[in-house]
Amino acid sequence: MTSSYTFHDHFFDCIVAGAGGAGLRATLGLAEKGLHTACISKVFPTRSHTVAAQGGISASLGNMGDDDWRWHMFDTIKGSDWLGDQDAIEYMVKEAVPAVVELEHYGVPFSRTENGHIYQRAFGGMTTEFGKGKPAQRTCAAADRTGHAILHTLYQQAIRHKANFFIEYFIIDLLMEDNECRGVLAWNLDDGSLHRFYAQQTILATGGYGRVYFSATSAHTCTGDGGGMCLRAGLPLQDMEFVQFHPTGVYGAGVLITEGARGEGGYLTNSEGERFMERYAPSAKDLASRDVVSRSMTIEINENRGVGDHKDHIFLHLDHLDPKIIHERLPGIAETAEIFSSVDLTRDPIPVIPTCHYNMGGIPTNYKGQAISASLDIIPGLMAAGEAACVSVHGANRLGSNSLLDLIVFGRAAAEHCGNTLSPGKKPPTTSPHVTEAIIQRLDAIRHANGSVPTASLRDQMQKTMQQHCAVFRTDNLLKEGVEKMNDVFNTFQNHIQTSDRSMIWNSDLMETLELENLILQAKTTIECALKRTESRGAHAREDFPKRDDKKWLFHSLASINKNGKISMKKRPVNLNTLTDEVQSVPLQQRVY
Ligand code: FUM
Repeated sequence: MTSSYTFHDHFFDCIVAGAGGAGLRATLGLAEKGLHTACISKVFPTRSHTVAAQGGISASLGNMGDDDWRWHMFDTIKGSDWLGDQDAIEYMVKEAVPAVVELEHYGVPFSRTENGHIYQRAFGGMTTEFGKGKPAQRTCAAADRTGHAILHTLYQQAIRHKANFFIEYFIIDLLMEDNECRGVLAWNLDDGSLHRFYAQQTILATGGYGRVYFSATSAHTCTGDGGGMCLRAGLPLQDMEFVQFHPTGVYGAGVLITEGARGEGGYLTNSEGERFMERYAPSAKDLASRDVVSRSMTIEINENRGVGDHKDHIFLHLDHLDPKIIHERLPGIAETAEIFSSVDLTRDPIPVIPTCHYNMGGIPTNYKGQAISASLDIIPGLMAAGEAACVSVHGANRLGSNSLLDLIVFGRAAAEHCGNTLSPGKKPPTTSPHVTEAIIQRLDAIRHANGSVPTASLRDQMQKTMQQHCAVFRTDNLLKEGVEKMNDVFNTFQNHIQTSDRSMIWNSDLMETLELENLILQAKTTIECALKRTESRGAHAREDFPKRDDKKWLFHSLASINKNGKISMKKRPVNLNTLTDEVQSVPLQQRVY
């Protein structure tokens, strides 16, 4: 019962959950506007997963050739396989230019051209002249450590503007009452104390849930905590079946080799030494959109043209490039190749394999960051930004370097919205005692769970199920078997979980179990939505339904889960209209590269 716990209550204008790119950009924007802001993070801010983003952030600055935000918009809509909402995409690509210039002014140390402009490289699916011109050099880079540069700059600026940080606090659940969000209940990992944070707006910027897969470029901390909280609160998640596999994860390690490597001239080969992307994407080749490249690599491996002893991976060549380019533009991946595959990439190819990288799905929001309910109403007090959110600007497949952009543009938009609508210093409403009690009962049940299945082995079971049954190619049988296995995982968590397999329980053990619950809810939602969507679109490739089916499936999926693990899914129309009359919407077309 709550009476046995002491709660520390805090009152803010805004709470930001998460200190990655979206969380820090929102925090900085809120603090700049004079809003009393708390940023709560389970890891030290500069260890958030944005730090691992390599290749860059897209914006049509045109520093390396002609560019136009309308071309960027066309590419993003085509990349999304027309599932992206065109109003939100228009907003993102137009705001990209001032948002990146602003980053430069905040102090992000971008690489430079000879005349001092921000350096921009080519990335997959980024073109000129509405897909008819040459590849666009649109991705603004700080060597191959762009996320690192952005994250450190934003953290320093947020401190400068006196934002409040609660570091190594794990948020257990949302404080929801009368269908509105009034804050969060968090747990201080250092001393185990419990904290209720009340605010006029809560912004979830908790990142993706890549760790539902066995092999992922995501950090171990990418457990989709915000999505888990929303599902437990009865709120829907959108487009969960769309999971991106990055073509170039290091074979056996899952660590990312940036798409920027192909942007600088790298290429893929099979066991016959063939540059096979020329067959699958005659025009864009190795710089086709990620879903296309990952599928092509998987087909090559499945047709016995993989490399290595088991013919189960592909080679990425950079050995033909001038070592000066590697040194200046790709120093991080040279180190990664050396450490994780013992390869000197100036001499030998890197062994790579498609690896889970990004979740297109998440908490549904509009372009201002306001969260949306299953009945399509705005949820008072709740917002989301970044990979945790589904705005939806990426639709069925995200283009590389549109992720850092999404974080920055929509973190900034969320702060703008709060600045325009909140009254600084107004005391937010609290919640009734039963709201806290329900959360504490769940926490206690998990804390004292002493079943027979340790957290680590159940996580392993979930990750292997998702890897085997819901990866690059999917079929009805494969997915159905996977759904059964995920039901087992869900039931095991409910009835047989053992929070710690050690005699002593550390806070980090309990946190891993809480994170596992968040992962399981989202894994289950992902695989069930994948089974329901009987078409192929973007990253969702059904071998038994190989075509896009606009008549039946030009819809977002909205999925909720009940206490027994039953998923309900409904459809939500895609917004094919633009936000302004500065541009026309992009009509449906066949998607070829
Ligand atoms: O390949 C990369 O550098 C990843 C970029 C992204 O996912 O946007």
